Amino acid sequence: MRWTSTPVSDIRGTLKAPGDKSCSHRALILAALAEGRSEISGLLEGDDVRNTASAMAALGADIDQDTAGQWIVTGVGKKGLRSPAQDLDFGNSGTGSRLIMGAIAGYPIKATLVGDESLSSRPMARVIEPLQRMGARFEASPGLRLPLTEEGSSRLRAISYTPPHASAQVKSCLLLAGLRAEGVTEIHEPRQTRDHSERMLRGFGVTVDVSRNGAASNVSIEGGQSLIAQRTDVPGDPSSVAFLAAAAILSPRGGLLAEGVMSNPTRDGVFRALEMMGARIGAEETGLAAGERLIDMSFESSELTGIAVPDALVPSMIDEFPILAVLAAFASGETRVSGARELRVKESDRISAIISMLRCNGVDVEESDDGFTIQGCGGAVPGGGLVETRHDHRIAMSALIMGTAAQNPVTIDDASMIATSYPNFFQDMQALGANLSPGRT
Ligand code: S3P
Repeated sequence: MRWTSTPVSDIRGTLKAPGDKSCSHRALILAALAEGRSEISGLLEGDDVRNTASAMAALGADIDQDTAGQWIVTGVGKKGLRSPAQDLDFGNSGTGSRLIMGAIAGYPIKATLVGDESLSSRPMARVIEPLQRMGARFEASPGLRLPLTEEGSSRLRAISYTPPHASAQVKSCLLLAGLRAEGVTEIHEPRQTRDHSERMLRGFGVTVDVSRNGAASNVSIEGGQSLIAQRTDVPGDPSSVAFLAAAAILSPRGGLLAEGVMSNPTRDGVFRALEMMGARIGAEETGLAAGERLIDMSFESSELTGIAVPDALVPSMIDEFPILAVLAAFASGETRVSGARELRVKESDRISAIISMLRCNGVDVEESDDGFTIQGCGGAVPGGGLVETRHDHRIAMSALIMGTAAQNPVTIDDASMIATSYPNFFQDMQALGANLSPGRT
């Protein structure tokens, strides 16, 4: 269904950040593998995370929602995972499917994984190849994609591996397989990716060694370790907050306080880039959750200037390029992004989706193989476009944010995917003063 965002002058208010998607997947998976009863609070109840919960339940864990955001999980522990009676449907989620492929690999079970049109077009070779080297077996669709059937093994071998792409999903998949492998599994990352798995595994009692050398990181895990049930409080999602923050920054009288946001250098690249562009951002430390620091963040209406985004920031803002592109469209001067080829294999080809989102709203943008260059409109983005969202939640939300500050309303062709990562997006945006309505006005 189409939705339209009509320009407003005020985006103001205070909101609690929704639970982090990456941490929500990991909390469910680790609790489902652990011995005993875990409690999770603040879980993001988006479609992607619910699919992970259903998959881990089908693999043998007991998973129940207690109250909103509170979940109780009794893990399989020593009993181990079992073959599911039905296909595991991951919907739109690359994270759920790739991490759980790692978990399945170490058990003598067989499972078929399926997903929606977007997920079925995404590359799975990046996890299939190292898992095959460890001893798992696969029958995949052409191009090594979903649907696929995986057969795990109780005699997995540890490997030492340098993923060809910067990917936390690949690293996390191999850490989960490594938990059940004989020997020490090592993952070498030329540029460190988000490290929530390492932190949360430690919370569940597992020893994970990490050594850093500049931007590079080596992570290793010894097989045969057991997880102990935990209470996990899921920290707030900086990627979801980035959408609200953008709306406040672009609004003439904008002001947002976002509470309980996870502060992690592997995730905060978008805020660092925004500061370089001149955004007024404040942060105050408030505590810890799931081994992560929490902060309250403030964002004020700001005039932005285009930048060349440093390549070194790319892994820590990999999900934020659609919203960064919107912000750059409103800035004065040119913004250049390079070294972000991975955007081609996200929920959509995000480079191509960003180009058409901006062009149909009157913004001058040029595409390159691994990025794009945007000529900022100095505040005056024409808008008025109908944006093709291509099954991509982040394109959908970015386009609606553009509509809050453009000269004309912006419409998206389909809002359904937003529920995969930010089910309360519409309520939160409306609470801040956005004017979102179904259909095209
Ligand atoms: C994620 C890792 C990233 C990111 C995705 C979530 C994770 O994907 O884009 O939204 O939770 O590990 P890649 O591993 O493909 O970079």
